[in-house]
Amino acid sequence: MEDIGDRQTGHDQAELSVDKMNLTDSQGMNLSKHINSREAKIGVIGLGYVGLPLVIEFSKAVFQVIGFDVYPAKVEALLQGKSYLRHIDPARLAPYATRFTPTTEFRRLPETDCIIICVPTPLNKNREPDMTYVFNTTRTIAQHLRKGQLVVLESTTYPGTTDEDVRLILEETGLKAGEDFFLAFSPEREDPNNKDFSTSTIPKVVGGYTGKCLTAAKALYDAIVVRTVPVSSTRVAEAAKLLENIYRAVNIAMVNELKMLFDKMGIDIWEVIEAAKTKPFGFQAFYPGPGLGGHCIPIDPFYLTWKAREYDFSTRFIELAGEINASMPYYVVQKTVDALNERGMSLKRARILVLGIAYKKNVDDTRESPSLKLIELYRERGAAVDYNDPYVPEIPKLRHYDLKLKSVALNEQTVSSYDAVVIVTDHSAYDFKFIAEKAKLVIDTRNAIVDAGIYGDKIKKA
Ligand SMILES: NC(=O)c1ccc[n+]([C@@H]2O[C@H](COP(=O)([O-])OP(=O)(O)OC[C@H]3O[C@@H](n4cnc5c(N)ncnc54)[C@H](O)[C@@H]3O)[C@@H](O)[C@H]2O)c1
Repeated sequence: MEDIGDRQTGHDQAELSVDKMNLTDSQGMNLSKHINSREAKIGVIGLGYVGLPLVIEFSKAVFQVIGFDVYPAKVEALLQGKSYLRHIDPARLAPYATRFTPTTEFRRLPETDCIIICVPTPLNKNREPDMTYVFNTTRTIAQHLRKGQLVVLESTTYPGTTDEDVRLILEETGLKAGEDFFLAFSPEREDPNNKDFSTSTIPKVVGGYTGKCLTAAKALYDAIVVRTVPVSSTRVAEAAKLLENIYRAVNIAMVNELKMLFDKMGIDIWEVIEAAKTKPFGFQAFYPGPGLGGHCIPIDPFYLTWKAREYDFSTRFIELAGEINASMPYYVVQKTVDALNERGMSLKRARILVLGIAYKKNVDDTRESPSLKLIELYRERGAAVDYNDPYVPEIPKLRHYDLKLKSVALNEQTVSSYDAVVIVTDHSAYDFKFIAEKAKLVIDTRNAIVDAGIYGDKIKKA
């Protein structure tokens, strides 16, 4: 056994010339070589938006892959060659039926050489990190951990999760990270439905608990992505992911605030952004909207806020951005109230049609969608609310919502029958010209009705 306990610090960047490191596990097996020769078997835990694309990439790279999930229905669907995520066409999985085995049987974990954790990291009802999925999964891995395995956490989380919490759980087995097994963190940058980038073409940041952990993790991802970006620790990798998402949350909050101010000044924020983005340097366009949605941006920044408290530090940018972004559905409701009022109507007893339940265009993901909050707020104020979403026929029961609604048809009769149509998600499938023509009143949170001038006063941007 070599001296694998070469714990890295931010100062030993030179150590990052990973090719110089000689990775040898306790059984004398070189894991990197094992990966490069495709003999290594890959285990992916959590077969969702992040896990399934990874399964496809590793299968494509001629690895044998076992996919683990706790939900039998998902595993059953995969075994039947079906996918339960709209943007993952089952045809993408079909060629790999002989290489990919989905299962709920975690006792098969010792068959794998590399284990990648892609389970959810939501917030609990007090808006604090809910680490139960990651920790339960880690405990399950610990029950089956064997020498020489590589464990990589991909779930977005606070710095310190991998080298403190996950490591301690795994080391309760008596095996040591960096000596008996390898431990790393590599954040996911999946952007469902992005036509320009996919799992394999997005560079991947990788941090290891030790240099040799990094070598193993780098070899693993080198097999499937265009470029791996090694960093000096798991904490840097964890923090890099949070920086990416905090950057978006803060900038979106800024344009949301400017939207509200410019509205009072009679200035259209969308026109301002179009003008500003002609600057060829030093400016990146962010767009206002009805509030944040999705599994990442409304949630991840608060993982850092929570961890910062341990250091007696308050993350003011994150808190302020959160406050502004969370207030946007209320702004949209107020705009609806004002527009109805102009027509001598009140929100109470008004009939509202919400367009789009998915948190962003052309996907079926409803997690944290601002549409859900909007429906709740409209209902609380006495409105009768329906929705349409071509990708969400029924609103599933979610962590914070059980709205019990089904998508209504979108045709001339329905669109014209509501007191207000509220555009929340600008799916490409929508014919906004038709909607603008037929609706009595449109509340447009996405600047979807481009020729608002043609449709006069019945289009209200919000
Ligand atoms: N969705 C994205 O675009 C995206 C992008 C970057 C990072 N992330 C992060 O990746 C992680 C996973 O997100 P996701 O969107 O893939 O979530 P998801 O809900 O789509 O998938 C998670 C999967 O894990 C399964 N699961 C839950 N508990 C489990 C357990 N104990 N053992 C095994 N499987 C379990 C669920 O059944 C589900 O299939 C999160 O930390 C998220 O923040 C997501």
